[in-house]
Order: sequence, then C-alpha cells, then structure tokens
Amino acid sequence: MVKIGDLQLNSPFILPAIAGFSDIGLRVLAYRYGAGLCVTEMVSAKGLVYGSENTASLLATDPREPIKAVQLFGGEPEFIEKAISLKIINKFDIIDLNFGCPVPKIVKNGEGSALMRDPYRVGMIVHSAVKSAGGRPVSAKMRIGFNENEINCVRVAKEIEEAGASFITVHGRTREQFYSGKVNLDAIKAVKESVSIPVLGNGDVTTLDKASEMFAHTGVDGIAVARGAVGRPYIFTELQNKVPEYDITELVKEHFALLESVMPERVAVNCIKKHVAGYTYGLRGGKEIKNRVFQATTREEILDIANLFKNLR
Ligand SMILES: Cc1cc2nc3c(=O)[nH]c(=O)nc-3n(C[C@H](O)[C@H](O)[C@H](O)COP(=O)(O)O)c2cc1C
Repeated sequence: MVKIGDLQLNSPFILPAIAGFSDIGLRVLAYRYGAGLCVTEMVSAKGLVYGSENTASLLATDPREPIKAVQLFGGEPEFIEKAISLKIINKFDIIDLNFGCPVPKIVKNGEGSALMRDPYRVGMIVHSAVKSAGGRPVSAKMRIGFNENEINCVRVAKEIEEAGASFITVHGRTREQFYSGKVNLDAIKAVKESVSIPVLGNGDVTTLDKASEMFAHTGVDGIAVARGAVGRPYIFTELQNKVPEYDITELVKEHFALLESVMPERVAVNCIKKHVAGYTYGLRGGKEIKNRVFQATTREEILDIANLFKNLR
C-alpha cells in the first residue's frame, strides 16, 4: 500500500485534481467507493494570498474525506510559501503542487506545465512548500515534458524529490499533447526508476485492464484516475476488481446536495450539469438527460432530472 509520510492510503487508486470536477461532491463519493486519496480542484496560490479569488467553495471539505488534499498552482516560490501558511490551508493533510496544467493563460503566466521547462524553479517551489507545510507531505503533479523534444520528466522528478516532496504523480503526456494522443508509459517508468519516493502514474486509465497494464509496464506505486472517475465515482470499486453497488439517481442527488452545502443553489445547478453529463455515460437515453440538464436553472429541475435515471439502462 502507498504510504505518504505518516499517511497510509487505503487504495493505490486516487482522484487527482480536476478543475471544474474534483469538487466536494465527487471527492466524497470517490472516497466512499474506495479511492485512496482525493485532491481538490487547483487553486491559485497568488489568488489565495491576495484574497482575490472566490476560493471558499473550492477549499470546502467534508468530514467524510479521510485525507484532505489541496492542489495549489503558482510559479513563484514566495507565493506558494505564503499560501500554505494561510489559516484556510491548515486543515489540509497534503499539499499538492501543479506542474502540469496546459491551459494557455496559465502557461503564459509561467505556471502549471510552463514550469516543466524550468526544473530548478520547480525545485525551489517544492522546497518553499515543504518549508511552510510544517511537516505535512507535499506532492507534485507533473507531465513528462513540455513537448516531444523536451521530455525531461526524470530531471524534474529528481528536483522534486531532492526538494523534499513525498510523492509524485506523472501524467504521461507532454504539455503540447494536452489530453489526447498516446500516454508515454516508458517515460512514466523512467520517472519511477529515477526516484525513491512513491510515484503514481496517470493517463487514460478507465478500466482494471488499463490499470494492470500501467502497473506492469511502469512499476508505479499507484494510479491517478481523472476523467474515468467523472460520472463514475464507483470506478474506484471496479478497480479493486469488485462490483460496485450504486443508483445513479441517488448519486446525482447526493452529489448535488454536497455542492449545495458549500455554494448557492444557482452555482450548484451550473456545477452539477457537467457531472450529470458524466453520469449518463454508457446509458441509452442519456442524450435527452444531457439536453435537459443544460437547460436547468433550479434545484427542483435537477432533482426531477436525477429521477429520469431510474428509467435508463
Ligand atoms: C477538465 C480537466 C481539468 C483538469 N484540471 C486539473 C487540475 O486542476 N490540476 C491537475 O493537476 N490536473 C488537472 N487535470 C489533469 C488530470 O488530473 C489528469 O492528469 C489528466 O486528465 C489525465 O488523466 P485521465 O486520463 O485519467 O483523465 C485536468 C484534466 C481535465 C480533463
């Protein structure tokens, strides 16, 4: 089992940060179905320090989350350090740092995957995070490089380890691949072989077979499952080769209630829409539900739509 500092994960399969998706609802459900760790959506370190972003719902947690992990992004060590020492970050057990976000606005700011081009700075950021984390584990989420001509994940991973991080998650793609194209298992394997802290592999794992392939090829300690868990929090049971019990109507209602516990109804309605689209995955008749949910504006409509899942197979 993966051990991170003093924390023992109950499963090697984790839900990584997914902006717009790894909210309090998905995290609580993923933990219930056996995820070993769930990470918040990414939050700007600078935004936190300046109090300029509406981060309350992003940082909201639930007592049913056994381990609380927050993901921060930023390119300046001093802001990472200051953000971690804020009171609002005290409750988190793990601080995860983002070196993988490919979004142009973020990259232009020298944040997210732009940092893959600056391993030294990555080391400084991790070092600052470890310094202000007060003994809590710090982890890093990275890609394999910026583009196919700059695959430098081993170099970056070594900086991360040397700076004191407790584990690394590697998405086996370059920044320029964004979220498509082949996942480079050889590069993930090279990272695993280059450091002695736990390494989690990531990219396109949606079934137990794909997980087994990643484990066999790379030797990683665990696997992060992102898109495969959207609309399917029960995947974490399937990945343990067990058959999950679930009722999608109830999942949608509970997910929505969790969102509403930390945000206004209107925001929760907008937030659940893309999850509902995910919950229709593989269901005949799902298209009509998707069309309806994107028109919804109230709690009542969401609850009615949740009931429609009862008629689907
Ligand atoms: C919509 C979306 C938002 C994402 N947001 C984040 C994020 O905030 N932080 C992060 O480290 N990775 C983020 N990712 C990347 C995922 O965590 C993961 O690395 C990637 O999707 C590959 O894994 P998968 O094939 O299991 O989805 C995001 C991915 C998607 C599709």
